[in-house]
Amino acid sequence: MRPMTTVDANPLRQGLEQERVPDPSCLVIFGASGDLTQRKLIPGLYMLAHDGLLPQGQTIVGIARQDMTDEQFRASMRAACDEHARTRPVDDAIWESFARGLFYVSGEFTDPAAYTRLKARLEEFDRTRGTAGRRIYYLAVPPQFFEKIAELLGKENMVCDPEKGGPYTRVIIEKPFGHDLASARELNQVAVSTFRERQVFRIDHYLGKETVQNLLVLRFANGIFEPFWNRQYIDHVQFTVAESIGVEKRGNYFETAGIARDIIQNHMLQLVSLVAMEPPVAFEANAVRDEKVKVLRALRPIEEAVRGQYAEGSVMGERAAAYREEANVDPNSRVETYAAIKVFLDNWRWAGVPFYVRAGKRLPKRVTDISIHFRPAPHPLFSRLGLRMQPNVLAIRIQPDEGISLRFDSKLPGPTVRTAPVTMEFRYATSFGAEPPEAYERLLLETMLGDATLFARRDEIETAWSWLDPLLHRWANDPAPPPFYEAGTWGPEEANVLIEKDGRKWRRP
Ligand code: BG6
Repeated sequence: MRPMTTVDANPLRQGLEQERVPDPSCLVIFGASGDLTQRKLIPGLYMLAHDGLLPQGQTIVGIARQDMTDEQFRASMRAACDEHARTRPVDDAIWESFARGLFYVSGEFTDPAAYTRLKARLEEFDRTRGTAGRRIYYLAVPPQFFEKIAELLGKENMVCDPEKGGPYTRVIIEKPFGHDLASARELNQVAVSTFRERQVFRIDHYLGKETVQNLLVLRFANGIFEPFWNRQYIDHVQFTVAESIGVEKRGNYFETAGIARDIIQNHMLQLVSLVAMEPPVAFEANAVRDEKVKVLRALRPIEEAVRGQYAEGSVMGERAAAYREEANVDPNSRVETYAAIKVFLDNWRWAGVPFYVRAGKRLPKRVTDISIHFRPAPHPLFSRLGLRMQPNVLAIRIQPDEGISLRFDSKLPGPTVRTAPVTMEFRYATSFGAEPPEAYERLLLETMLGDATLFARRDEIETAWSWLDPLLHRWANDPAPPPFYEAGTWGPEEANVLIEKDGRKWRRP
């Protein structure tokens, strides 16, 4: 299949262009007028076209309640790309060719007539654009619509069963995958009543991040790390997902979620799984996911956890309101905007090694960082000279300023033996001279290619919930408000106590 445009000189894309262009399909976006479509999906698809990774004939159909013509939809998506595309300004020639594959159908998700109209249009595209019955349904809608959409797609015969052959049908669903274990099971049940598990692509956008994928390459493409990657050499591991923003306009959603559901149950546990998993037998969807699930099964029930909620403060020089003052937030809310958990994995490799995880809103800066803290040197040769040695730290910066650094002690130049910590640095920007692609670009492409390696499987989701549920119950039943922390600080003092009583300290990323 020939790409739609030529690939520009992005070294991170090299090698993709010939092998990885999918067959054209109809990608139907339910919730086409929503934020996700405008900020991530259409700009991501445009970037794929820009990089020559979309096939000729790829067709994108938005569906939402609002009345709009194809032309109006194209104009509003162009405005979205002008604002959100990774490389701007938008290239007019590429846009023209991309926009010829953009269409719009108006209708309610609950109205069977909308599906009849949609189906007729998709069949027309099969004839005119070569999409040959291939379908991807992207449910960019709140989960309460999943059931109805799945049911109506099924009723209208818009889903092909892969067991019976024929063109593929895939469905992409967005988090939240449930609110707890019981609701996640229900959602999964809804999905498998219409689709088979291998047709379901559950997006956790962290898995689309270059640096998150690089965790697998770092660990399993290099011979030097694996021998040290275990309890004998590693003292502890820290994971930080910090955001400087508050809940912005999502007060309604956040009041029902809290940071543990929003970040820890999904993104954070994905990071933990990739750091802790055993080498998979193949780089293939089920082999990788089998190993990740084993990590989740090894999670010990949570014993130590701290939560917090931001109070008024100042972030990057600007006043930040308290969480309780945000729009659509209960003025007496007990929802946590910060959580820190001490995690243990009861398995051979990690027995006794604490993984400290923390996530929070309104922290001093946006940073996602993993640090592997090694045990000190076994023989204190230089300590005898009164020198304080620092343990080695391998820090993986997921974002921003993506890269990896290794800290070790070095001799300071001069006639006396004095030491100082130094770092060896790898930075994406310097080594590759290019911005990594956006997570959604990669994930949309993988769905078109039918590779589910970077998507969450049903058992991953359910195992993660069964670990987190008891803590959520404990917090929900605690009448006391969470400890407050000033916006723009690194969370409540209790979080420092959690790690410092073990003789360790949070790393400042
Ligand atoms: C989303 C959460 O899944 O991830 C948001 O719902 C959060 O609350 C976002 O802000 C963080 O994503 P990223 O890519 O900016 O780290």
